[in-house]
Amino acid sequence: MAIEAWFMQENDDDQRLPHQKDPPEYVSSGQLADLGVLYWNLDPDRYENDPELNKIRQERGYSYMDMLDLCPEKVENYEEKLKNFYTEHIHGDEEIRYCLKGSGYFDVRDKDDRWIRILIKPGDLIVLPAGIYHRFTLDTSNYIKLMRLFVGEPVWTPFNRPQGNHPARKGYVKSMLGMPLEAY
Ligand code: LAC
Ligand code: NI
Repeated sequence: MAIEAWFMQENDDDQRLPHQKDPPEYVSSGQLADLGVLYWNLDPDRYENDPELNKIRQERGYSYMDMLDLCPEKVENYEEKLKNFYTEHIHGDEEIRYCLKGSGYFDVRDKDDRWIRILIKPGDLIVLPAGIYHRFTLDTSNYIKLMRLFVGEPVWTPFNRPQGNHPARKGYVKSMLGMPLEAY
């Protein structure tokens, strides 16, 4: 299965809606790869003993793993967390998420500072590079179960935009040749 991603129609409608343009403008995994976003489709039923997942973890050094079950009963400060997830930010490291149940959207900025919306559903493993501006929202199903991976001791700290002087941002911009000024 291929990834489903599209340029967002930006308006004040509920963030949980798809926000497709009319007509839709889809984005391929190749276009995402150009932004440093990686994607695999795995079998979510095998996550406890999946050679493919283990290989990715081993090759990329993803030693740390935990689960994030995004529902009000299991998450402290649920509403506040969701609000923070949807505030545009970067991290000092990769954001690596593997969807096991439910669905949601990761939004990333392209090189012209446009929002690309990436639908995450069971089996989708996505890696956002350090320093990319992004955000996350649930969709109208209102539920997602994510595996979080990390190299070593996890650091989840978000740095809200603007972060032009953050080393991870500088590193990302430098690695993306031709990045326009708006994207700082
Ligand atoms: C985040 C959640 C969704 O960090 O994992 O954005
Ligand atoms: Ni993030």
